[in-house]
Amino acid sequence: MGLFTFGTSNTSVGVDIGTSSVKVIQLKKNPTGPEVIGYGISPLPQGAMEEGNIKDAPSIVAVIKELLKNAKIKPERSFASISGQNVIMRFTKLPKMTPDELEQTVRIEAEQYVPYAIEEVSITHAVLQDLVDEEGGGKSSILLVVAQKELVNSYMDILKQSGVGTEAIDVDTIAALNALETSIKQTADSQEGGEVVAVIDAGARTTNISVLKASTLMFTRNIPIAGNNITQMIMNVMKQEFDQAEQIKVTEAEINIGGGTENEVSEVVRTTVEELSSEIRRSFDYFKAQSREPLIHRIILSGGTANLKGFNTYLSNELGVDVYMGNPLEGVAVTTSDTDSLYSNLQQFTVAIGLALRGAVE
Ligand SMILES: Nc1ncnc2c1ncn2[C@@H]1O[C@H](COP(=O)(O)OP(=O)(O)OP(=O)(O)O)[C@@H](O)[C@H]1O
Ligand SMILES: [Mg+2]
Repeated sequence: MGLFTFGTSNTSVGVDIGTSSVKVIQLKKNPTGPEVIGYGISPLPQGAMEEGNIKDAPSIVAVIKELLKNAKIKPERSFASISGQNVIMRFTKLPKMTPDELEQTVRIEAEQYVPYAIEEVSITHAVLQDLVDEEGGGKSSILLVVAQKELVNSYMDILKQSGVGTEAIDVDTIAALNALETSIKQTADSQEGGEVVAVIDAGARTTNISVLKASTLMFTRNIPIAGNNITQMIMNVMKQEFDQAEQIKVTEAEINIGGGTENEVSEVVRTTVEELSSEIRRSFDYFKAQSREPLIHRIILSGGTANLKGFNTYLSNELGVDVYMGNPLEGVAVTTSDTDSLYSNLQQFTVAIGLALRGAVE
């Protein structure tokens, strides 16, 4: 993982079509490392994306076209992602074999997880780690990723209609990890046997949780609670329209530990944040039981909801784990003229940066 796949062109564009907005990042490949030369973020109309599915293709196409025009990006090679909630990801161990044999074996292995006809799905895999078992025979730890072809094609269509040539489709969960690779690796050796790090990407519709040990992915899960649930709560209780509720959330909501001196908005959103936090705890407990890892040493946050005031401190207090904001631009230069909205929305650009950096699994 983490190899640049810029190929013949020396620029690469990541297009992240999220529930709330589209994010694009253009990177240039330099001998000294990647450099951001263009970026943009633009909101999507409500309902354009639902549960990671394209509902209103013409609106999304219009947003992407406008975004690329304003950011002066002419994408030659671009990479997009489907949502983690719509893929099946499974971890398996297989004996070491040639890439061709692995391709075959992965298909057979994947069939048992797939609730659809095998012809209807795209199957891909990543070799996470080479293991050495007790008998000395080598095995590899493999991540299987299965998605419906129809879904992948619907994303390809959107990009084609937007005038974007798509080189590959990734999964947002994996793209976020790619962007945060440096942040994840930073202290990987700080614990004996390898540090256990959880990456939590909290967006508008979903929260993706990944757990890595010594920088190797071990667990991933998707929780259907995120920013929109918080906004919805404000809409219901305070009788506001979506846009006003969003505004109120961003400017006024703040989650305090213990809840002491909270304003009305903070009280309203608290229940949803508590719910999200207990779901994260449940995932951590499941991971710990299954992997026999006693501890998660560090949490890295990404996604727009990471910016909810007090959320990081609240999570740290609730889960008893140090929480850090991820920096997806670690090791990436930025030379665009106006960087304000890049840095003020940095967490939201994580997936787009990861996509532009690597391209794809396939
Ligand atoms: N400062 C802030 N405080 C609170 N919430 C914020 C803030 N900034 C952004 N958000 C929330 O972050 C969410 C958008 O984040 P992001 O762009 O990562 O999601 P998305 O990719 O569109 O959605 P998803 O990945 O779930 O499909 C929205 O719910 C938005 O209200
Ligand atoms: Mg997202």
